[in-house]
Order: sequence, then structure tokens, then C-alpha cells
Amino acid sequence: MKHIHGYYSPNDLYNKIIAGLDKVGTDLSEVTLDDLQPVDEFHIRGDTATKELIKLANFTPDMHILDVGCGVGGSTRRLSHVAGCCVTGIDLSDEYIDAAERLTQLLNMQERVRFHAASALDLPFENNSFDGAWSIQMNMNVEDKLGWLKEVYRVIKPGGRAVLYEVCGNKNTPPYFPVPWAQDASMSFLVPPEAFREVITSAGFDIEVWNDKTELARKAFAHVTEPIGEQNLPELGVHLLVGNDIRTKAYNLHRNLEEERVSLIETVAVKPAK
Ligand SMILES: C[S@@+](CC[C@H](N)C(=O)[O-])C[C@H]1O[C@@H](n2cnc3c(N)ncnc32)[C@H](O)[C@@H]1O
Repeated sequence: MKHIHGYYSPNDLYNKIIAGLDKVGTDLSEVTLDDLQPVDEFHIRGDTATKELIKLANFTPDMHILDVGCGVGGSTRRLSHVAGCCVTGIDLSDEYIDAAERLTQLLNMQERVRFHAASALDLPFENNSFDGAWSIQMNMNVEDKLGWLKEVYRVIKPGGRAVLYEVCGNKNTPPYFPVPWAQDASMSFLVPPEAFREVITSAGFDIEVWNDKTELARKAFAHVTEPIGEQNLPELGVHLLVGNDIRTKAYNLHRNLEEERVSLIETVAVKPAK
């Protein structure tokens, strides 16, 4: 797991994000969720997908939700902002969690949005502590998918819903590397959608919703071309999170979608009420 932690550990991330905001002319005393979106929603179709997931999840203001693998917390904050619920995010990367906490303070959302550095395989919470959970594009880095989902199952209350938006394998896996979630094959553990579905039910969940979002992902990356020569990167973008070869990673994701090497699944899994 060390190399995965290392992959998601840029130095001085918060200050780099602040410098990026400054360069694009954002007034730091009035930063909004949308200002941060280019860098803090690190998943396919960014905030558009997050907003769809918020609708699908139907979490309510009285709830406390766990975001497993929250990154720098863009979707954690958006969920709290739109649904009005408290959200706790956990992530393996201390650097991401540090940035997540400081960005949340910058937005003055720290009352309802909290973070901890922790592994999805060993959640630092009591049984039945959350009303629901979500994970957005984290499973690719997790080899022990049953271990992760059993942990999510353990910490949510009976009747609670887990919303997962996850990259899976496809007919022609393995994918080309590097991709946004992995520099090489040693960090990426993709299983086909059917196998993913089986692991979810083996952890004890009932599957309530199962949507294949691969075609939308393919369309979102259809325009991505092979990067040639010097790469002009924006001031604010996910290259700050995972390195300056992001264009190559995006291009490989495009090829992996076109060649049916990866798929994208959105699902709601329910812990049966007792
Ligand atoms: C592609 S990013 C997605 C981040 C965030 N969910 C988002 O959509 O912006 C994958 C995240 O999963 C985290 N991660 C990978 N393996 C993990 C594990 N075993 N436990 C907790 N977090 C993990 C990484 O540190 C990274 O922040």
C-alpha cells in the first residue's frame, strides 16, 4: 500500500492549490466550491458526476455520511453543501487530508465536514456509526475489495446506503498505463463489473441501483488526444495531485474506454435493516 500512498503524496499541496487560485485571479476571501472544482473533484466527469450521485444518494440533512477515499474533499464538501448533511472523509494520503482540512476551513465548512487520514481497510470508527457512505473512484487502488466493503458495511447503520462510483475492468483489460489512478500495473486492481457486483453482495449488501456509466465516460474523454511536445498545464488542475504527466494519463484513459479495457459503474448498495 506504501507505493499507492506515495503516488498520492505531492509536497506542499495546499499552498500549490492556493497559488493556482491566486494565478487564475480568485479572491481568496471569497473562494467557492466551483472555484476549486478543477482540482478537488478527481474523478471521471467531475462535479457533474458528483451532482448526479448526490441526487441518487438522496441523503438528508439529519444524516452523517462517510466518504471513503475522499481525496482533497471536493465531493465531500459538495455533498454536505447540497444535501445539508454532515460528512466525514477519510483518505490514505496525509497530504490530501491536510489540504482537505485547510480548504474546508477556507470555505468555512469545518462545522459539518471533517477529515481523517486512514485506510479504507481499517476504518477508525465504531460499528453502525454512519447513516450512509460513499466512495468515488477509489476501488481501483484496493486489491482487497471484500475487506474494504466489509468495513463500509460494518460502520453504517442497518438500512444505510452505500453509493459507489467506481472504475472497473472490461472485456479487454488490462489497461494501458499510466492512468490517473496509477503509474503502473502494481497500483491498479480492476475487476469486471460482474465480479465487483459479487463482492458487494458478498460483503452483505443488497444492490438497489446498478447503472453502467461507461458510455458517458467514453464521451467525456472522446476529445482527448495524444500529448505531443511540451505540455501546457492549467494553473489549477489534477496534475497538482498526481503529477505533470496527467495528459498522458488522460489519453490512456481515453484509449482504455475506447478499447473496452475499463468500464464505469454507479451503484447504490443497502445494508439490510434488521
Ligand atoms: C482517484 S482519487 C479520488 C479521490 C476522491 N474520491 C475524488 O473523487 O476526488 C483516489 C483516492 O483514493 C485514495 N485511496 C486509495 N487507496 C486507499 C485506501 N486503501 N484507503 C483510503 N483511501 C485510499 C487515494 O489516496 C486517492 O485520494
